[in-house]
Amino acid sequence: MTAPGSIDIETIGEDVPLLEGMRTARAIRRLARDPVPTELIRKVCEGGTYAPSGGNRQPWIFVAVTEPERRAWIAERYVETFREYIAPAFEAAKADPDFPEAKVRNMKAALHLAEHLHEAPVHLFVAGWTRRGAPQEQALFPCIQNVLLACRAVGLGASLTTIHRTHGEEIDRYLGLSERTPSCALLPIGWPLGRHGRPPREPVDTKLHFERYEAP
Ligand SMILES: Cc1cc2nc3c(=O)[nH]c(=O)nc-3n(C[C@H](O)[C@H](O)[C@H](O)COP(=O)(O)O)c2cc1C
Repeated sequence: MTAPGSIDIETIGEDVPLLEGMRTARAIRRLARDPVPTELIRKVCEGGTYAPSGGNRQPWIFVAVTEPERRAWIAERYVETFREYIAPAFEAAKADPDFPEAKVRNMKAALHLAEHLHEAPVHLFVAGWTRRGAPQEQALFPCIQNVLLACRAVGLGASLTTIHRTHGEEIDRYLGLSERTPSCALLPIGWPLGRHGRPPREPVDTKLHFERYEAP
């Protein structure tokens, strides 16, 4: 899917069944360059604001970066970290004949994102207020997941990334964020070049236990 011709912000995404949306909100890392309307960015962030938070403090802050030079600046730092830390593991995995094909595909998509991040039309950062001086990642993840689900509902591709944290302070300064409001996640968002669909997952019965965990 690329950018639809016309969008009704009020109705787009409102008809996606919740559970099927959850099952098919896979990481979409191949994105078209077409811009995303500001009102749609606002809509998916609004979805995020309905997340629970301790004491209903609602610590989240969204910073949507859309200007090409600013996206290029961020992408430069992201790909640097990716090449340094992730790419070597990827090379090793590719050489291992026993490494599952699905995981190789996943890594290829992650590499594609790293090399094309500057083209993703929206770099959405989710940041949040610290509490007693400590970052509050756990307070932000329900909100982040809501944004990802909202993207799924309206047909936008998105994925959850955190490796920008390697350049965390520098990037936060660039975004106007302070040590009291560090960024937690970067969601590259755009119109998907592929499709939403169910990602590979182990069956729930291998994960669910009643009353007491029994090791397999
Ligand atoms: C805490 C966390 C951090 C992640 N950081 C990155 C990242 O920096 N870059 C990236 O490409 N994917 C990152 N991912 C995305 C996962 O790799 C992705 O969800 C996983 O590959 C599953 O994809 P699927 O839902 O399409 O199966 C992160 C996921 C989580 C939960």
